[in-house]
Amino acid sequence: MSESLTRPVAEEPRTTSGPDERLPFPMPRTCPFAPPDDYARLREQDPAPHVEIPGGRPARLLTRYDDVRRFLADRTTSADARDEALPALGVGEREAAAKSRPFIRTDPPDHTRQRRILQAQFTVRRVARMADGIRGRADRLVAEMRPRGRADVVTDYANIVSTSTVLGLMGLPDDDPDFFREITRISGGRHSTEAEVTAALGTLFATLDEHITLRSQEPGDDLLSALVQNHLLTGEVTRHELLSTLGITIIAGRETTTSMIALSTWKLLQDPAARAVAEAGDDRMKGLVEELLRLLSVADSIPIRVAGADHDVDGATAPIREGDGVIALLAAANHDPATFSDPDRLIPDRTPNHHLAFGFGIHQCIGQHLARLELQIALHSLFSGLPGLTLASDDVALNNDAATFGIEELPVRW
Ligand code: HEM
Repeated sequence: MSESLTRPVAEEPRTTSGPDERLPFPMPRTCPFAPPDDYARLREQDPAPHVEIPGGRPARLLTRYDDVRRFLADRTTSADARDEALPALGVGEREAAAKSRPFIRTDPPDHTRQRRILQAQFTVRRVARMADGIRGRADRLVAEMRPRGRADVVTDYANIVSTSTVLGLMGLPDDDPDFFREITRISGGRHSTEAEVTAALGTLFATLDEHITLRSQEPGDDLLSALVQNHLLTGEVTRHELLSTLGITIIAGRETTTSMIALSTWKLLQDPAARAVAEAGDDRMKGLVEELLRLLSVADSIPIRVAGADHDVDGATAPIREGDGVIALLAAANHDPATFSDPDRLIPDRTPNHHLAFGFGIHQCIGQHLARLELQIALHSLFSGLPGLTLASDDVALNNDAATFGIEELPVRW
């Protein structure tokens, strides 16, 4: 039994729960570089609490590294948005996903078929070929910013690098990054209604549909042409499936990476030793990025599932039952002191670092090699290109209302 469980209950804030007494979830972060305060206490006292999510629906959380990993690896779990127990946190998210059916919210065999058509584009080797293009774009943005003396890292840099990378991969024009930012803001907004999410996705799909038509008639040397020619025209996927696969890849690929670039920049501005690693951009850079991914865990509550079997969770007040909605908290897992010593500290050369920032199991992030590359390049270009970089304001608002944790802006000067 853990030490804290032997203490009198009155000394601790209330964090245990039962089916009749549910904690509200999501819990906001107060520190941008650490999970919500309650996660640590839950991990100790009630590692699989009953919670109430928006809309008054029940769900269970998982907070320990081993439990999160084991649960996400379990093939009996479901991510199907048509199941009403799926604990989507956005007001209209599950209902909209039940209609648009992005493959992140489907199960095999549909999930397997749709994921397979993308897989070949995201291997380490394929992604490595994109390095020069990403570096060129990042360096150009830094050169454009330099004479201005100040900028907003989110709008002027992170959003453009992440959006142009995913669009470039697909062979789509990247001249309007704000359009994609707005679509993502609505589709991932916790307060967006089903109608708002469906309308935003409709706008995105209409744009993508035009490009599918163009590539059916005149294929080019890009991912979209390959998907159209090799998978759509052969009947392997339907036009709607292709649209929703492209849509979720753009949405999942740009919001997470934008947040990671912006929050990492903020963290590095406060940590001279880690900043020196980013400035040098040498082979310590890979370790630094892994550690930032672990520490920041921006996709904390994206892995949502419905349990397909009963699960005993060591130390929990009750087992998870088949049919329960479960949120496998990645930030809680990545800050579990049983797996990571001194988990709230950034240790650039932390070894081993088997973090779960990209999830685990069959839905583990398909874009993870690309995300790592983008982060390594974007942070090095920014810190080496603007040596005097510093925060222009201490007043940075945290955004706890989106699927991905992040910030709206990060004002800097140099
Ligand atoms: C630092 C950046 C990123 C983070 C932290 C991140 C995180 C995640 C996580 C946690 C999942 C699993 C969700 C679940 O289990 O339900 C996921 C899935 C996914 N990610 Fe990422 N991601 C990042 C970047 C990207 C990029 C760059 C792309 C593509 C360009 C991408 C595309 C996807 C897709 C399509 C899925 C669904 C995979 C499936 O269901 O099989 N992500 N991501």
